[in-house]
Amino acid sequence: MDTINEQEVLFDEHDLIVSMTDAKGKITYVNNVFCHIAGYSRNELIGAPHNIVRHADMPRVIFKLLWDTVLRGKPVTAFVKNRTKDGNYYWVKAYVAPIITNGEIIRITSYRKPISSFVKQEITKLYKVLLEHEKSHSLNETFEFMLHYLKDRNLTYEQFIDRLTLNRSVSSPDALNIDIDSYYIDHMIFKTNISRSVSLGKKDVVVTESCCCNFGKKLKSLEGMSFTAHPSWSKVHQHHNNVHSLMQKYVDRAYKNSSKEELDSILVEVEKDTLKLFSALRDVIDNYVEEKGL
Ligand SMILES: Cc1cc2nc3c(=O)[nH]c(=O)nc-3n(C[C@H](O)[C@H](O)[C@H](O)COP(=O)(O)O)c2cc1C
Repeated sequence: MDTINEQEVLFDEHDLIVSMTDAKGKITYVNNVFCHIAGYSRNELIGAPHNIVRHADMPRVIFKLLWDTVLRGKPVTAFVKNRTKDGNYYWVKAYVAPIITNGEIIRITSYRKPISSFVKQEITKLYKVLLEHEKSHSLNETFEFMLHYLKDRNLTYEQFIDRLTLNRSVSSPDALNIDIDSYYIDHMIFKTNISRSVSLGKKDVVVTESCCCNFGKKLKSLEGMSFTAHPSWSKVHQHHNNVHSLMQKYVDRAYKNSSKEELDSILVEVEKDTLKLFSALRDVIDNYVEEKGL
C-alpha cells in the first residue's frame, strides 16, 4: 500500500496531461505537462512502455479493463494513481481512446485531468479491496468480482465513474442512475480540451464534430424524463446548439485551411459554451439528485 515517504503531486484543473502510444502501449507522444508532472524528460518517455508510471497501488484489473475496452475499439475512462520518477504519486481521471484507421488501431491516446479529494478517498477504498482480491484470485475472477461489487450498488462501471465524477459516494446501493451517459460528457469535455492542446488532423476534428452531434441525439432521447422540466434544461440545449454550430464552423474553416489563430479563436468560444453547457447540466443533475434523495 502507500509507501510512507511518498508525496502527492498536485496539478492544476486547467492542465491536461496528454500521451499517445502505439497499439502495444509504447509511448509515442507526451505533452510538456506530462513530462513536468511525472518528472521525466521527453527522451526518457518516448519509446518507453506506458507502465513506466505504473503505481503499485493500482489493481491489475483496472488495466485489464482499460486494454480489453480499447482493443475492442472503444474509449474507456478510469481513475489512475501514477508514480513519478522520484517516487511520488499523482491521481488522474484518464480518458483513453484508440484511433482506428482501416480497421486497425494506429495509436491510442490518453487525456488526463486531476480529481477531487473526495474521489481519491472513494476510489482508494475500492482499489484496496480489488488489490486484496487479486492476491488470491485470477484476473478474470477479480474482474467478475468488481462487476458484482458495483452491481450490488446498482451501478455499471460507467455509472460508477459518473457517480464519482459527480462527487457522490458509491457505498450506498440506492445509487444514482440518471440516464446521462458519461461517454458523451467525457468525450465532449476531453475533445474540447484536446483540440486546444494538440494540433489535430482534419479527421480528428470531424470526429469531434460528430461526437458533438451524438451528444445532441442523446439530449433529444432524454426529452420527457422528469428532470427535463428543470429550467436549466433549455439552457443545456441552447449551449449545446451553440457548441455544435461552432464545431461545424471549425470543421468548415479547417477544411478551408484557415489560420491557426482563427481556428483557435473558435475553440475558445467552444470551450466557453461547453463550460456553460456543463454548468447547466450540473444544475439539472444536482436538482434531480436532491429531489430523489439519492
Ligand atoms: C494510451 C495509454 C495510456 C496509459 N496510461 C497509463 C498510465 O497513465 N498509468 C499506468 O499505470 N498505465 C497506463 N497505461 C497502461 C499500461 O500500458 C499498462 O497496462 C499498466 O501500466 C499496467 O502495467 P503492468 O502490466 O506492467 O502491470 C496506459 C496505456 C495506454 C494504451
